[in-house]
Amino acid sequence: MTVDEKIGQLIQLNPKFFADVSVDVTGPWESLGIDEGFLKNIGSVLGSRNAEEMLIIQKKHMAEDKNKIPMLFMKDVIHGYRTIYPIPLALGASFDPDLVCECTQMEVKEASAGGVHVTFAPMVDYARDARWGRVMETCGEDPLLNSIMGAVQVKAIQGDDLRDTDHIAGCVKHLAAYGAAEAGRDYNTVEMSERQLREFYLPAYKACIDAGVTMLMPSFNSLNGVPSIANKWIMKTVLKDEWGFEGVVISDSNAVGELKTHGIAADSKAAAELAFKGGCDIEMMTANYYVGLKELIEEGKIDMAQLDAAVERILNLKESLGLFEDPFRDASPEKETAVCLTDEHRAIARRAAEDSTVLLKNDGTLPFSKDVKKIALIGPFAESKKIMGSWACNGRDDECVSIAEGIRNLLPNAEITVVSGCSAELGSTDTSGFDIAVQAAADADAVILCLGELSIYSGEGNSRVDIGLPGVQNELAKICVAANKNTAAVIFNGRPLTLGELDSICPAILDTFFPGSEGGNAIANLMFGVANPSARVPMSFPRAVGQCPVYYNHPSTGRPKRNDFDNYRFKSRYLDCGNLPLYSFGHGLSYSDFRYESMELDKKQFTADEKITVTVTVRNAGERDGKEVVQLYMHDLVASSVRPVQQLIAFEKVEIAAGETKQIVFEITEPMLRFWDADCNYISEAGEFELFVGYADHPYIQDRFELI
Ligand code: GLC
Repeated sequence: MTVDEKIGQLIQLNPKFFADVSVDVTGPWESLGIDEGFLKNIGSVLGSRNAEEMLIIQKKHMAEDKNKIPMLFMKDVIHGYRTIYPIPLALGASFDPDLVCECTQMEVKEASAGGVHVTFAPMVDYARDARWGRVMETCGEDPLLNSIMGAVQVKAIQGDDLRDTDHIAGCVKHLAAYGAAEAGRDYNTVEMSERQLREFYLPAYKACIDAGVTMLMPSFNSLNGVPSIANKWIMKTVLKDEWGFEGVVISDSNAVGELKTHGIAADSKAAAELAFKGGCDIEMMTANYYVGLKELIEEGKIDMAQLDAAVERILNLKESLGLFEDPFRDASPEKETAVCLTDEHRAIARRAAEDSTVLLKNDGTLPFSKDVKKIALIGPFAESKKIMGSWACNGRDDECVSIAEGIRNLLPNAEITVVSGCSAELGSTDTSGFDIAVQAAADADAVILCLGELSIYSGEGNSRVDIGLPGVQNELAKICVAANKNTAAVIFNGRPLTLGELDSICPAILDTFFPGSEGGNAIANLMFGVANPSARVPMSFPRAVGQCPVYYNHPSTGRPKRNDFDNYRFKSRYLDCGNLPLYSFGHGLSYSDFRYESMELDKKQFTADEKITVTVTVRNAGERDGKEVVQLYMHDLVASSVRPVQQLIAFEKVEIAAGETKQIVFEITEPMLRFWDADCNYISEAGEFELFVGYADHPYIQDRFELI
């Protein structure tokens, strides 16, 4: 291979450069200045639309490339390819790794048939600030939950053999701490201690690497003064030396070029040198490698062996995908059509939407009786089909089931009135739809308020400083509930919203996040009791945006405010708001009635080479079968550095039939008690630990144990 051909393998462009096809833009583009002759060397394509487009581009390339090296086709397949299931934040709420595995396996079957070779997933950025728009892509505020869900996705994406065309390669992102962008503003700077990084922000990336993920994408943000892509500590010391990652590193879109914008590269050549030496193998959508690498090699600043090593990693990935045997990996428009959006896949998406919708509040209003005759659907989402959320890949709004359609499907004989009542636009003050909404509420047997934030208000580049229900939705809720008490709300959101006013108004609230293609059917099933809510809050819902970031696993202070009634002035508190979130991590209601009867420890003291067996007994005293998320938390009472007041150390989602009692067994081992001390040693320390089962800030049964 010539130097140009080698450098070409290190550049990724979108389909527009290779054929007259349509392109989804996922970021700003510089004018690249790549000459036509060089294009045949390009090694990978960002975001081809479908199998047909991949075939056009790949066939043309294979005809022109003298080395006959197939291109890699990579795409953001985040929560479904064509059959769209709930956003990752909702999947986190499911607390169900098996469900996440099933959804992901379905997704990659469709994506592979659609000509995708690599997906830029899982995204496992740990996030605590609901103002940040990309919390919709994470599984929430707990490192254990994020790690488990990330690893499950890697295994489901890649399978056991990348030659199996039911699987593709994964790319974990965005290393590191993108979710800690200052003030929740996307792309903003991140300053953080190594201890905090290692304790909370790095574990999920490591879990994905340990699960065998083949690619990794650094984050846009600067981390302690150096943008991740050029940050030798995170990209070499941690990623390569400590974690032993040997896969392919790809920049985020435009990120190499943005080293100039960050102000740490004077020009393209400097940007290329920093990124390449930072370990970035593929440059996405900028051409600094095209401009600078050749000169850097001629100047001896980068040696040919380093370039060859990067090319080899990329060629090895292509080889492991079987691309040299079949550059098209058995993808075709016919196969894509046959595989996508089948009834089986829709059923998976529907079950996922049911099991990732959280029942936040219920005074007994839900479930509605299926015998109701007149139902009023009121709110901007009442018949909206824009319910997939951001990163919906090839999903189509018109293939989504709205709430109105879902309820008509379930109750074909009911009289359903649909009134939008108001807009979900930010800043809307239009109340002209209120009168007709109130009338519809008054005339109905049951009212469903369909409220939320538009899907364009979360996702990349979409941070908010006010995370309430946009417009006059709270006002709409107030007058409708006044007109008819038999009212429940369902919320569409890409982040925790400040729902305090709605909570004070509405008897029952379901939060469905963005449920995807089958959202309307799932919500209808939940509203009318065909399905029983089983999801739990994956990320604290603030009472006020001024609390952000508010999260459950916070350290103590010297002056903790013990509860919302502790109003002593000299405490860590706000004058105008409590410290606790409106809905805590792990909160969620059910139509069943789960009673925690006991928590037994087989010993109260153990040494590092022993384990404690914890047996939790839960009874379903209700009349409905249901699923409970049994959550086990610990608190390290005294340690050499301040520890969180509570940490989720294990969870299990279990089905418990009406009247049934089940025992759920957990094991506590010494590694579960380890933490990063002030000197960044990963250690456990002897001492006493509190243990409780329940959910954050809400222990049902408590006990203590000791590591000796
Ligand atoms: C975007 C996102 C990244 C995505 C990439 C390719 O800017 O930050 O998550 O994978 O570009 O679309």
